[in-house]
Amino acid sequence: MTFPIHRMRRLRQNEAIRRMVRETVLTVDDFIYPLFIIYGEGRKQPVKSMPGVYQLSKDMLKDEIDELVSLGIKSVLLFGIPEYKDSSGTSGYQDNGVVQEAVKYIKDLYPEMYVITDVCLCEYTDHGHCGILDEKGRIDNDATLEFLFMEALSHVRAGCDMVAPSDMMDGRIGYIRKRLDEEGYENIPIMSYAAKFCSAFYGPFREAAESAPKFGDRKTYQMDPANGREALREVFLDIEEGADIVMVKPALAYLDVIKAVKENFGMPTAAYNVSGEYAMIKAAAFNGWLDEERVMMEVMTSIKRAGADLIITYAAKDMARILQY
Ligand code: PBG
Repeated sequence: MTFPIHRMRRLRQNEAIRRMVRETVLTVDDFIYPLFIIYGEGRKQPVKSMPGVYQLSKDMLKDEIDELVSLGIKSVLLFGIPEYKDSSGTSGYQDNGVVQEAVKYIKDLYPEMYVITDVCLCEYTDHGHCGILDEKGRIDNDATLEFLFMEALSHVRAGCDMVAPSDMMDGRIGYIRKRLDEEGYENIPIMSYAAKFCSAFYGPFREAAESAPKFGDRKTYQMDPANGREALREVFLDIEEGADIVMVKPALAYLDVIKAVKENFGMPTAAYNVSGEYAMIKAAAFNGWLDEERVMMEVMTSIKRAGADLIITYAAKDMARILQY
């Protein structure tokens, strides 16, 4: 029954047949590109640990979005770096905040661009945590929910297409869903950072978003990297609470989780190929140690093969270029 009857190499003999039997195919539609919006004017500041990524002020967005459009990228995920931070992150929910202004700007100029906003407090709080603190300095889960909702609502009012809460407070998807519905926004989808792990791969992002916690760490709200079964419970709860798309984050070190989430729930599943995953490839390529294009292609293919329908990645532009030829 086996060799010489079966010869796996028969279907590998040339590019035509290899393409015909290829199981996983990437397209530019798979990618969402993150953007860091900084306050002020005329600012385009490189993020050192993420070559090719910049903090951009609103007025500098035009060239960037023109490039995305020309590459066929259809969606962006916005993060904000505000001028002022305070203990409850009030700069996160102002109608004229950095993200809100950027949303208006982008949707005005490019109504077709699908704009998703990250909803979290860490970029807006002076302590850098994703929730507000009680008098003992602990994250106050339930008190945080209304702040997250106010931020989401301000993004929706500015005209975003989808909100993506990344804070990992319990109950926030249900809370935001219910309150958005009450405001008449029942058609705005929620992409939940459902299984978000407490990962060292977020290092470069914290430089980009200026959001590193000033004390302690995120272990009381983000998940233990050791817990795959718990990830399914997190995802289950977010689905019950009304999430439209569920996300696993990071991607590469959690491919098993992506696969299990997709197999168990069959939901539209997103994976966040995070800052550290991007930085590793760029650093190795810069040193001539890896073939950047081939490694990127292989990494993205693995994430999609595991079950991701959408990939949020800083390499979206690189991937669009690779896929063009
Ligand atoms: C905010 C947030 C983080 C990322 C996305 N949203 C950082 C964190 O939780 O510290 C990380 C993204 C990346 O590393 O690319 N809560």
